Amino acid sequence: MSHLLVTGGAGFIGSNFVHTVLGTSDDTVTVLDALTYAGDRRTLQGVPEERLTFVHGSIADAELVDRLVAGSDLVVHFAAESHNDNSLRDPSPFIDTNVVGTFNLLEAVRRHDIRFHHISTDEVYGDLELDDPERFTETTPYNPSSPYSATKAGSDMLVRAWVRSFGIRATLSNCSNNYGPRQHIEKFIPRQITNVLDGRRPKLYGQGLNVRDWIHVDDHNTAVLRIIEAGQLGETYLIGADGEKNNKSVIELILELMGQPKDAYDHVADRAGHDLRYAINWDRLHDELGWQPQYRSFEEGLARTIEWYRENEAWWRPVKDAIEAQYAEQGQ
Ligand code: NAD
Ligand code: TYD
Repeated sequence: MSHLLVTGGAGFIGSNFVHTVLGTSDDTVTVLDALTYAGDRRTLQGVPEERLTFVHGSIADAELVDRLVAGSDLVVHFAAESHNDNSLRDPSPFIDTNVVGTFNLLEAVRRHDIRFHHISTDEVYGDLELDDPERFTETTPYNPSSPYSATKAGSDMLVRAWVRSFGIRATLSNCSNNYGPRQHIEKFIPRQITNVLDGRRPKLYGQGLNVRDWIHVDDHNTAVLRIIEAGQLGETYLIGADGEKNNKSVIELILELMGQPKDAYDHVADRAGHDLRYAINWDRLHDELGWQPQYRSFEEGLARTIEWYRENEAWWRPVKDAIEAQYAEQGQ
């Protein structure tokens, strides 16, 4: 039985991770979460509370981080400012959380010799052409486009340097775009689902030919657990599930699954510096660690996600108008 410190455990992927860990093991978990606009204590409703300690605080607080790291066997680091569009409006919190926060965690795991797993994104690699036969691999050079992806790239580099210079016991994973329950409605898929539920039209940036490589959040988390269990220290593993789709086709599928005409959406202003395509080669994770995704059908995973937003309107309703007002200000 282990005690895990999970940073960002009240956000989308982190909360689903805590549900999985507490639901499938006897482990105990401390969640450290700043409850920013993206964090919500209600994401952890339904977990066995007797094995969960919730600490409301920031990874930018080095003293707090040191104390919590010292009392754990393993740190799984999800906390981040995570939305590209926000990073274009105001990059500053991205530096504080993604770079300085990760630095604080690294210094603490170094002092106390605690095992560390760093969660990152495929966006650190920049983007691919639509017809490029290659996908991202663990050796693709870093080439981030946005303040978000640049700060994640910076945090990855810090982890690698702390491994090499100080010998910390760490693994890294870079995953493609996640979908599933409890994702903030600022993000592409839940924004469109809640638009339809709210009687609004989905919003497609530009022509919508940009490709994202979708993976269900539960598949991301089983891969993270497998890497923690069997991954080589100091190494990076890419996580993906062969889910490439362009944005236009995803909006059309959402409309279809929700009983609307396929063309009932609006084209809105494109994102500045919009990455064209992400695609993951996850051979290493499969060949070395024997991991495979469980969600084989995107359509089925999406239908279940739509159901979750339909049934949990109380969770997203209070912030919907404000999110849409913010997007409207930038013509999106
Ligand atoms: P999210 O925005 O839903 O959640 C982030 C959580 O971190 C929130 O609960 C927030 O309150 C918390 N947080 C923010 N700043 C903090 C701070 N200073 N101290 C403590 N907590 C803080 O993000 P997510 O989509 O769940 O992403 C989690 C991680 O996964 C991030 O590191 C992200 O880069 C990575 N990732 C996300 C995706 C994706 O598709 N969403 C894909 C690959 C990797
Ligand atoms: P997003 O969920 O923000 O993830 P990321 O920027 O990390 O890929 O966006 C996914 C894709 O959807 C991206 O190409 C931008 C596009 N998009 C839209 O077309 N409309 C929207 O309303 C949003 C939020 C995103």
